[in-house]
Amino acid sequence: MSHRITYSGINKVVENDDDFNSILDISIASQIPHLHECGGHGRCTTCRVRILEGMDNLNARSPTEQETSFARKWDPSIRLACQAFPKGDVKLQRLIWSMGEVNQLQKELAPVGKADERPIAILFCDLRNYTSLSSENLNFDIAFMLNRFYTALGEPILMNNGIIYQYVGDEIVGVFGTSGGTREKICTDAIRAALGMQYALTQLNSLELEDFDVELKSGIGINFGRAYVGHLGHPNHKQFSVIGDPVNIASRIQRQTKKTGTKILISKPVLKSIGNDSLWIGNSFTSDLAGLEQQAELYELLGFKEMDLQLELQSSLHTMLEDQDRFAKAFYDRVFEMAPKVKGLFRKNMTDQGRLLTHMLGGIVYSLSRPEHLTSGLKKLGENHSAYGVEPEYYPVVKQALMETIDETLGDLKTDKTMPAWSQALDNVIDVMQHWQSDTGHH
Ligand code: HEM
Ligand code: FES
Repeated sequence: MSHRITYSGINKVVENDDDFNSILDISIASQIPHLHECGGHGRCTTCRVRILEGMDNLNARSPTEQETSFARKWDPSIRLACQAFPKGDVKLQRLIWSMGEVNQLQKELAPVGKADERPIAILFCDLRNYTSLSSENLNFDIAFMLNRFYTALGEPILMNNGIIYQYVGDEIVGVFGTSGGTREKICTDAIRAALGMQYALTQLNSLELEDFDVELKSGIGINFGRAYVGHLGHPNHKQFSVIGDPVNIASRIQRQTKKTGTKILISKPVLKSIGNDSLWIGNSFTSDLAGLEQQAELYELLGFKEMDLQLELQSSLHTMLEDQDRFAKAFYDRVFEMAPKVKGLFRKNMTDQGRLLTHMLGGIVYSLSRPEHLTSGLKKLGENHSAYGVEPEYYPVVKQALMETIDETLGDLKTDKTMPAWSQALDNVIDVMQHWQSDTGHH
């Protein structure tokens, strides 16, 4: 018998009459954007929903879901949409709306009331000429600029598997590696974030803050070491906390950027984790840092030596999807012009379809920094496409249409590496989407 699924927040009601459909299946079939990074395998938790009404109309939690909800201390009203099958009316709310939020979820796994020692990278980013701004600009402008600064410079942290830990004064503090990873990966993530932040600030100054007649500057310090991670504080107000010497030292490294006239400084432990071969290092300095017995060796970071695929994708994503509807429309117009017969495969609203596509493209860029769920997610997407009637020969057409649309949308903002990076990334995506067949033994 048919029943109703109500999505609170967007006020959408969907009829469902198939008991084998999970809430996630229902969202996808109804063109409702619903994150599902692992493709519905109960592993990534990005599809989580809060059940507002009709809890009894859902199956009980599976053992996997049980385990997840226990580890993350969820109350019973939170369910994984991909593991919950409605048998009657249900009202729900999707809990994760953006990819940026996904990385913040790492905090859930930190212990409560105590702290675990973990190897992490810590990044301090300071907004430089902030004080001179305060006196020269109205409060409203300051608030506007700070918000833009925090958003634009916070995103590279989130795109690289980092957590925005705190805003201290005019500093942003990011931490990397709280949920594990090799030392090299943790430090590479932090470095890529720093380079992304620097790029974002350049964009902010030249495009958005032009009218304010100011040029915001930043200084970034990065350190790596063992610190304590947990939820600490008053029993009624426990906060996610990261404590230990490596954190204090990172803050002092940041301060050295001012003295040395550099933009990004990294400590020796960071350099050692990645190696001179892959990093482009400028000057090096020997500095006294308060609280350290020995002098610290600091290195000016200028970039990666070779093209870094993720950095290229991340840097172009914001501009590319700034107007996501326009991007999607230009893309589908191209596809239908190149291959008119595929038009018949699209049966639903094309604006909504476009949003699902841009959502997915953005999601892929974010998930590259925690690829453990990406492959299963893309295999599932490929499987869905086969069911939509998509033939293998359509993939090159879609790739070409995407490349042309990206190229056109980015215009002058491309570097000579941007398009090769997108080409490689799309090849990888399409490859995984098409390989589900060989894995499952289907044709
Ligand atoms: C880079 C490769 C591609 C990506 C990232 C992508 C992404 C998406 C996404 C996110 C959806 C929403 C539904 C879902 O999540 O299952 C979708 C649906 C769809 N895609 Fe793709 N797609 C790709 C390639 C293609 C190709 C090559 C075709 C062939 C023309 C195609 C045709 C369709 C159709 C027909 C639908 C379903 C529309 C409907 O529900 O009526 N896609 N795609
Ligand atoms: S846990 Fe449901 S999609 Fe990953």
